[in-house]
Amino acid sequence: MKYMTKPTVVLTYPINQKSIDKNLKPFANVIIADSKTKLDKALPKADGLITLLADKITAELISKAPKLRVIGNYAVGVDNIDLKSCKKRNIAVVNTPRVLTRATAELAVSLLFAAARRITEGDRMCRAGKFKGWKPELLQGIRLEGRHSLIVGTGRIGNETGKLFKALGMSVDYVRSNDSKHVIKNKLKKAQILSLHLPLTPETHHWLNKSRIKLLPHDAIVINTARGPVVDEDALIDALKNKKIFAAAFDVYEREPSIPISLRKLQNVVLSPHLGSATVETRKEMADAVTTGVMAVLSGKKPWNLLNH
Ligand code: GLV
Ligand code: GLV
Repeated sequence: MKYMTKPTVVLTYPINQKSIDKNLKPFANVIIADSKTKLDKALPKADGLITLLADKITAELISKAPKLRVIGNYAVGVDNIDLKSCKKRNIAVVNTPRVLTRATAELAVSLLFAAARRITEGDRMCRAGKFKGWKPELLQGIRLEGRHSLIVGTGRIGNETGKLFKALGMSVDYVRSNDSKHVIKNKLKKAQILSLHLPLTPETHHWLNKSRIKLLPHDAIVINTARGPVVDEDALIDALKNKKIFAAAFDVYEREPSIPISLRKLQNVVLSPHLGSATVETRKEMADAVTTGVMAVLSGKKPWNLLNH
């Protein structure tokens, strides 16, 4: 890659030193702007911007970067980015599809096992010195084999999760967020395991709402590894508190990173701190995906992970 002058790539976080050294430094001026002050100072110079999912890339922020040509989001979900403003300004967006599909599906399965077999509840009991010996009735969970699961969302992660669920001996059905009300209702009534794999958009906000939660069987387990606001968190907390369903596992939260005390107090929930893509292998591949994607756009090539052009 050759430039008359090197472009400038601004990162809101030093995602991975090796990727930065290999994929950015030979071709670009790199600025790590890991505070608001640094970012405000760096944006006017930015040709490329690499962001995390907690960075809100608003129209206002974009307006501070008049040269910006590409945003690389270190996530597959792009709900943190004002895509309309990007389109208006002809700013390309690249993200991290595929490389995190398996990791996220594996986390969904991990959470399912943990919820079904009450692993974290038992862990808390052991740590608190409350394990007083084996008992027939101690922490009985539920068997997964033969259960009926419903995957919400038919993207890559939903499909991969379905594949793993099948391998556990469960029957697997799928539903799209925009299927008819009638279809959704009938599928939810049978969903003993409900796993959410929807991107967050205005249409999917509170997709799992109070009336839909009411349809779930009494032994249902709900798993959310997608985005917090896809679920009406307060309604799900109510259902868990009143034992209307068996359990739930949350990797994402409606007001992330804040987790309501009422949720933290419940025993029949498993909570993880947004770890869907958090494996050594995947995080490295995500860093390569965004750095090479951003450089490709800046050198006039079409990257494999281009989202919006
Ligand atoms: C993580 O939540 C992602 O969207 O990559
Ligand atoms: C998204 O669904 C992905 O697997 O990349």
